[in-house]
Amino acid sequence: MLAAQSVKQWLKIGEAARLLGVTETTLRNWDRAGRLQARRHPVNGYRLYSMTQIRDLLDARDAEPAVSAGDEDDRIDLPPGHWDLRVALDPKHRPQIWDLPASTVRRDWRKYPQEAYVIRRDGCAYRRLTPGEIAALQSLPPECVEHEGLTNRERIAAVGDAVPPPLAAAVGTALRDVVSDLPTATVEICAGVGGMARGMHSAGFDHLATVDRDEPAVTLLRSSGVLPAALVHLADVRTFDFSPFEGRLGLLCGGPPCQPWSQSGHRRGTDDERDLMSWIPDLLGRLSPDAFIFENVPGLLIAGNRSYLENLVTRLRRPADGLRYGVAVARLNAADFGVPQTRRRVFFVGLRDRPASMAHQVFDAVADRRTHRGPGDYSGPVAPWRTVGDAIGDLADPGGWRRWPM
Ligand SMILES: C[S@@+](CC[C@H](N)C(=O)[O-])C[C@H]1O[C@@H](n2cnc3c(N)ncnc32)[C@H](O)[C@@H]1O
Repeated sequence: MLAAQSVKQWLKIGEAARLLGVTETTLRNWDRAGRLQARRHPVNGYRLYSMTQIRDLLDARDAEPAVSAGDEDDRIDLPPGHWDLRVALDPKHRPQIWDLPASTVRRDWRKYPQEAYVIRRDGCAYRRLTPGEIAALQSLPPECVEHEGLTNRERIAAVGDAVPPPLAAAVGTALRDVVSDLPTATVEICAGVGGMARGMHSAGFDHLATVDRDEPAVTLLRSSGVLPAALVHLADVRTFDFSPFEGRLGLLCGGPPCQPWSQSGHRRGTDDERDLMSWIPDLLGRLSPDAFIFENVPGLLIAGNRSYLENLVTRLRRPADGLRYGVAVARLNAADFGVPQTRRRVFFVGLRDRPASMAHQVFDAVADRRTHRGPGDYSGPVAPWRTVGDAIGDLADPGGWRRWPM
């Protein structure tokens, strides 16, 4: 507990915030993140900040070179002190290791101190990942995030949501192998920046339309050249007019938002307005495609979501009177398909008027398409999982490496 006479060497939160030129909210976040920890006043419990620590922080900030020549957003998001050893090595912030496959990178740079960064191969330095590198870690072309007028944060948010195309391509190709007469006409909902769209395109499907409501993602997909820009619609799927596609589709696919089920999210499930999974059977009922492929986060498979999942699969099997699908669900890892990232996703495959066993055959065929294997997996293909270095080692080094403070 603080001695009463020492209180004068401590500043109230408002005074500390003014001195440091940040808001009180930022200071509370710093406190929680351990960057500048407050003590509590012995009587009223208010936060108190040590003058010595604040001086140290100001000195360190003055001595620190500029972080990068990034855009305005970067400068707002990343105060110099974010290059803190405790942040960089905290697994919560997912440092990417050069000689390992990437994990899913942090994409929300608004919430201090989350940023995507990589540790150098020799382990002695680290730097932020560029949006293009983050794309490459998902097997997307680095240039797919290039577009004037978008901030780095918007590019990273858009690309961070994408299904790695080789993973989507494996599922799409397996579906076509099993159902050889499947028409290729496709509509994709929640297409984002086009990770799944690229995969389905290379599996031979022809998009009649994609729909997403995120403007930066739609902008990037429109300019990608993967599909004609006129087929890439910026709209809310709940109000989009799907009537031109009724009864015309070989495939309905998409990646409805996964936040409700992410184990790192709030898991509000059906109470969350972003839960589009529950709405998908209604769309199936209207469009009656020959097949569907949907993907979501593996959190859907945890025990706490069991009744939701069972209810969903029941509705996918019979989305409307007289309409039936054989349905199979499987968890897949993008790294097994040559993606330098261990991104796990749950896929739902449905085949109209076919038994569930045939939908399971699709996942058997997906397994046969694995090209890489993880540590300890001696049953699969020969090549080991690809690494961060494999993906970005040949790209131009953007610089900005920091050595660990000694
Ligand atoms: C997980 S991301 C999909 C990523 C995409 N499958 C890919 O591979 O790039 C989910 C997407 O759903 C979109 N979305 C969420 N709610 C939506 C809605 N009501 N209408 C249209 N798009 C929506 C988001 O903008 C986001 O791009």
